[in-house]
This record gives sequence, C-alpha cells and structure tokens, in this order.
Amino acid sequence: MSNYVPVITIDGPAGAGKGTIAGLLAKRLGWHLLDSGAIYRAAALETMKQCVALNDSQAIIDTLNKMDVCFIDGKVIACGEDVSLAIRTPECAGMTSKIAAISVVRAALLERQRAFAASPGLVADGRDMGTVVFPDAKLKIFLTASPEIRGERRFKQLSEQGISANLATLIDEIAARDERDAGRAVAPLRAADDAITIDSSRMTPQEVLEMISSFL
Ligand code: DC
Repeated sequence: MSNYVPVITIDGPAGAGKGTIAGLLAKRLGWHLLDSGAIYRAAALETMKQCVALNDSQAIIDTLNKMDVCFIDGKVIACGEDVSLAIRTPECAGMTSKIAAISVVRAALLERQRAFAASPGLVADGRDMGTVVFPDAKLKIFLTASPEIRGERRFKQLSEQGISANLATLIDEIAARDERDAGRAVAPLRAADDAITIDSSRMTPQEVLEMISSFL
C-alpha cells in the first residue's frame, strides 16, 4: 500500500510517562508526534475562555470547529496563541477530563487527530489512541505506573514549569481523573486487546524506550 503510515500508540493514565516516552520514541524514529491530551486540553481552555456551557453541545461543536491547534517547536499553539502553560494548570486539567467525557467533543476531535498520521510514521500519545483513533496501529503500548509515582512525577513536572501544587492533592486529583477517564461511557481509558502493557514505576525513561524499541 503506497499511503500506509505506520503508527505506534502509547496510551495509559495520567503521569505514567507517556509524554516523555512518546517524545523520545518519535525523536529516535524521526516520526511525527501527536500529544492528543494537549488537543483535549486546548479544547477545554477554549470552552472556558468562550464560557461555553458543558450541556450546550452545539456551542461546544462550533467552538471546537473554529479552534485551530498546532504544535510548533514543542509549543502548543491554539488560535494563534501559545497556550503551552495555560493548558497545564490543575483547573484546565479538571475541565479537560470533563469535556473529554462528552461524546460530541470526542467525535469533533477524531479526524483532527487522525490527520497527524503522516509519512514516515506517527507516535500517538493519549487514552484511546489504540482503541479508537488508530485501531490498526502497528504497535500499541499501554503504559502504567503506581498512583504515588504518577503523582510525584506530575508534581515534579508542574514545579519545573513554575506551577505550584500540593503533592497529596495532586495524587487525589489524578485518582479522581483516572476514575472519570476509565469510567466514562465514551472511549474509556483501557488497554486495547492487542496492546502490550508496561509498568514504568521502577523503570527509567531510557529503559522503557529500549523495551518498546525491542518490539519494533
Ligand atoms: O494526557 P493528558 O494528561 O494531557 O490528558 C488530559 C486529559 O484529556 C485527561 O483527563 C484525559 C483526556 N484525554 C482523553 O480523554 N483522550 C485522549 N486521547 C487524551 C487525553
């Protein structure tokens, strides 16, 4: 097939290290990278900015259809504005998991995510990359880690970005978010049947990368 584009999906809960691993893997392979969480976060930020009510499906669809998101030099640009930091606040994270549970939101963002699949290949990071967005991916990874480790990682990540947070609150928020993401009716967080699960709790990013590379 001339237009076949290989895709590797990396799904899993918040703080499992998906972003780091997906970034390293895309760089190693020279492939494109899709941070689907950033697209959902940008969508949440935009609905917050526009004061769209979460029960107003049409207003949400209109807002998302107008929203233009792209990644430039590792920055997330939405509607011409660098929102890289604004989408990482706990408030935006909370709103993101709420809008991510709405089926019209997921439908509105589906093709936009698929459009990232371009030659020579794509590494896609998210929750439903292997189950919904790229069901034919050549390799599907489900990356997990213990809640404590995930909380600590997210705490460190936020600190590095100059965002202050409380570790215990963060662990609670992550647990609540996981529960919503796994329990929602639409595209719940779960490993695809043909995914390989890796628990990264006691592994360095390099070790995870080597393990994934061994499956290629
Ligand atoms: O990976 P992240 O923390 O940036 O994701 C932010 C939120 O978006 C999280 O609550 C899960 C949701 N999300 C989703 O529902 N589907 C995706 N493919 C990616 C993220």
